[in-house]
Amino acid sequence: MITYDTVRKQLREQPRTWLVTGVAGFIGSNLLEHLLRLDQKVVGLDNFATGKQSNLDEVGQLVTQDQWRRFSFVEGDIRSLATCHEVCRDVDYILHEAALGSVPRSIEDPITSNESNVSGFLNMLVAARDARIKRFVYAASSSTYGDHPGLPKVEDRIGRPLSPYAVTKYVNELYAEVFANIYGMETVGLRYFNVFGPRQDPQGAYAAVIPRWIKALIKGETVFINGTGETSRDFCYVENVIQMNLLAATSCVPESINQVYNTAVNARTSLNELFSMLHSRLLPHFAHLKECSPIYQDFRKGDVLHSQADIGKAARLLGYAPTHKIDEGLDAALSWYMENLA
Ligand SMILES: NC(=O)c1ccc[n+]([C@@H]2O[C@H](COP(=O)([O-])OP(=O)(O)OC[C@H]3O[C@@H](n4cnc5c(N)ncnc54)[C@H](O)[C@@H]3O)[C@@H](O)[C@H]2O)c1
Repeated sequence: MITYDTVRKQLREQPRTWLVTGVAGFIGSNLLEHLLRLDQKVVGLDNFATGKQSNLDEVGQLVTQDQWRRFSFVEGDIRSLATCHEVCRDVDYILHEAALGSVPRSIEDPITSNESNVSGFLNMLVAARDARIKRFVYAASSSTYGDHPGLPKVEDRIGRPLSPYAVTKYVNELYAEVFANIYGMETVGLRYFNVFGPRQDPQGAYAAVIPRWIKALIKGETVFINGTGETSRDFCYVENVIQMNLLAATSCVPESINQVYNTAVNARTSLNELFSMLHSRLLPHFAHLKECSPIYQDFRKGDVLHSQADIGKAARLLGYAPTHKIDEGLDAALSWYMENLA
């Protein structure tokens, strides 16, 4: 098995062409930045449903002009099979991130979530199959564990889904498995657990907890905690997610292909602990945070109580070794949060 450092070295020496769907979103734009820094050629697809041009612009500022010229962007929708066919042409690897995230969004509007997350996903699989790409790596989700009580979560022990979003992400895994069996495609699903980092959107009703709370704290607004605050999550810094994508796309170990993997750190942080971590990091910079405590409100429908990933399978088959625990990720992203969420 080759290490992550070796993978990056080999890619630098022999650049590939990557398609990143959802490239204007949080994780997609971080993948783009990393791939361009490795001098890869990247095709990006996004319909700006939740992604932003400013995320792409920011990446453009962070890489060299030569690297930026290796990026081509298509504004389009995975719900169009023709668009999917167009962007898959001459691509080696696909990192499929485009989807409508958020459990509450899917409860509000299950049809629209299903159209992008299931029909769009199926379009991408068909287009990838027709273009004979090398490997299709896709964003799966820890929501697939549903009501299974076991902790830490092990890939082959899942429960019943708790939301339409969880259904869509589980259907992705089923389709990927069937396409591998029937058409001989190589697919890898990455079950992300609460990813955070630069360019994650703090705005709106469906924003993730870390950027939403940081923004509220910086602005002196109330932080609301759903439930007692003892709900816990395996928060995963985006650098770990990038590592998993690159390892999954390039792995030469036959048993590692056509699998799903937890993508997290194997740690558990309660919402109360998270609040303290954010508060202590921001307090030295914002005097108004001296007197600040959160308000507790009802537990949110469709959410799971506790989440923590067993990452043994990813370590064993892909050589995954997360570089950032939650506190290291928060430290790494703090300057971005302060510059962009103030
Ligand atoms: N962030 C997390 O904690 C997390 C956890 C589990 C799974 N995921 C999955 O990871 C992927 C990326 O999530 P993210 O956090 O970067 O979210 P994001 O909303 O920032 O990015 C998703 C991107 O997909 C684009 N998109 C949505 N529907 C599209 C469509 N029909 N056609 C083309 N583009 C479309 C959006 O405009 C956006 O840019 C998603 O599949 C999400 O379900 C994320």
